[in-house]
Amino acid sequence: MKDIKKTELHLHLEGAAMPAFIRGLAAEKRADLTGVFDERGHYAYKDFNEFLSVYEAATSVLKTPQDYARLLQSVLEECGEQGVIYAELFVSPEFCGGGDLAAWRDYLAAMTEVADKMRAQGVDSRAIVTLIRHFGAERGRKTAICAAETAGNWVTGFGMGGAEAMGKATDFAWSYDAAREAGLGLTCHAGEWGGPASIREALELGVSRIGHGVQAIDDPALVDDLAERGIVLEVCPGSNVALGVYPDWASHPIARLRDAGVKVTVSTDDPPFFHTTMSHEYDRLADVFGWGEADFDEINLTGIDAAFCDEATKARLR
Ligand code: ADE
Ligand code: ZN
Repeated sequence: MKDIKKTELHLHLEGAAMPAFIRGLAAEKRADLTGVFDERGHYAYKDFNEFLSVYEAATSVLKTPQDYARLLQSVLEECGEQGVIYAELFVSPEFCGGGDLAAWRDYLAAMTEVADKMRAQGVDSRAIVTLIRHFGAERGRKTAICAAETAGNWVTGFGMGGAEAMGKATDFAWSYDAAREAGLGLTCHAGEWGGPASIREALELGVSRIGHGVQAIDDPALVDDLAERGIVLEVCPGSNVALGVYPDWASHPIARLRDAGVKVTVSTDDPPFFHTTMSHEYDRLADVFGWGEADFDEINLTGIDAAFCDEATKARLR
């Protein structure tokens, strides 16, 4: 499925780092990554909490704007390999300068240069500045300030990832209000580990998209509400199966949500962590649910409509 032109709205920049890339940086910096990789060299984790720890440990070798520029270059090249013509990347000022605005500007300058270069080569991208839920609301405010102060150009969205079980989405309302006032598109991870109540809380933030949102399937009234309001789900089936949210692809609710009229898109989340790629996700959707070219065209048009980019870019992508 590499030939189908794709849009990917849910891709964590550090989570897209190949193990070899992280090992290479660790060797350059003589960093100790004990426990991050298994004996085959894959990222090693048993459950979501370990996944988050390994993710943060791997990310700790990315120490400079130049490291992030190199990472973005390799991730966007892989997007191109997968037929992705437009990607939105979750990027965290927390990891890029510890939430300090001046430092974040330096990281952003280095990444924007790469994004501009890759756009000219057919892979367009935007950044969704992302707070990390388990770091708490106070650090979330700093992230929102970084997002609001650098909104426009490459930064066009604001989101929240991390441990969904920590507090309520509405604890972060100040940050979302600041991001909205700065003109950023809004999304929030919810309904990955949390149930329908967690999705309803995220909707209170005024988001147009939900990261995952798959557990809405347990609440028919919520499914109807999502469909009626045109809320778009950034669904990452391979991620959900790899992390054990669902036992296998056949149990995954993406097709049922879509059949119920909910707008769904398809993304990889953190591809090397879950041994997936965009082409692999499409192959599995074709195998398990019988989706074909017309289905994928519809999914990609949904993605373009929901993208956090300007209308001229959307027109070009369509
Ligand atoms: N950060 C990276 N991947 C994530 C996921 N699947 N859920 C929440 N936060 C994340
Ligand atoms: Zn995610």
